[in-house]
Amino acid sequence: MTNATFPALRMRRGRASGWMRAMLAENRLHPSDLIWPLFVCDGDGEEQPIATLPGVSRHSVERLPALAREARDLGIPCLALFPNTPSGLRTADAKEALNPDNLICRAVRAIKDSVPDIGVMTDVALDPYTADGHDGITDDRGRVLNDQTSAILVEQALVQAAAGADIIAPSDMMDGRVAAIRAGLEREGHQDVAIMAYAAKYASAFYGPFRDAVGSGGRLKGDKRGYQMDPANGDEALREVALDIAEGADLVMVKPGLAYLDIIWRVSRDLGMPTFAYAVSGEYAMLEAIAQSGGGDRDALVLETLLAFKRAGARGILTYHAPLAARLIHG
Ligand code: PBG
Repeated sequence: MTNATFPALRMRRGRASGWMRAMLAENRLHPSDLIWPLFVCDGDGEEQPIATLPGVSRHSVERLPALAREARDLGIPCLALFPNTPSGLRTADAKEALNPDNLICRAVRAIKDSVPDIGVMTDVALDPYTADGHDGITDDRGRVLNDQTSAILVEQALVQAAAGADIIAPSDMMDGRVAAIRAGLEREGHQDVAIMAYAAKYASAFYGPFRDAVGSGGRLKGDKRGYQMDPANGDEALREVALDIAEGADLVMVKPGLAYLDIIWRVSRDLGMPTFAYAVSGEYAMLEAIAQSGGGDRDALVLETLLAFKRAGARGILTYHAPLAARLIHG
């Protein structure tokens, strides 16, 4: 590839000035690469800081249009919404997930009514609604039931689509749910609603702050290794993602991000689908902890890690740092 050698070739010539570095950059970040996850809580005028996710809060519904305008003005194309369901509404059958007036549906309507030109993505999984914090309903031995859960997820997706969600994002890892959801959307006339499958989602220790944010962490019985993927596996991720594509996913996601750059690379290169990375809550908290300790510069840490996702082949990134990153990109 390179014929010349030192001293005819000096690689540092390409790094010697800002304009040269800008001209030679192979990958660039743009605000349109970013999806901003937001946490929704009950109440009026509520903003609840999340201790394990410093700088991130839960917001009550009427606060969301202002955040949506902020995102739009920054050039962020899409929001992802997650509810902190009031305790009393968390039940074994997760029926609040199907309530057309639940927090998520109210949040979608509030955003779409005020800022119609921003994308809204909703999470399909039952963990914010079950009493035991699992993503599906469980039998009496605590096992998450696949097919029964999948049937509920379809109804959940339809309720969200009816509220105006643009992208349905199943994060539950049940087998066959993408096909079931796609069929449901077709049947109900939601042909334009996209599915972003959490296609390769690992049973990760990096989800802790998120579980605090949606209030499922303290109640979680056992772990999610019976349905989320084993961090030991790479080939299996390709099979998982290929299945979701065959079932009708429009966009696919790898999650978490930083510890799984190899998976992002393989999925984006081998499957040729728009591939998204989720820089999850523990990754956000990790960067914040470094910045907080004085051990690193927050802005630089954020931009470097986001660029790593692009280099690995990600089309876009879900990140709690989206507004900060967009501001930094705008300069
Ligand atoms: C649950 C869900 C999780 C996340 C997104 N959807 C947590 C989990 O699987 O326990 C994690 C996101 C994050 O950590 O930022 N369906």
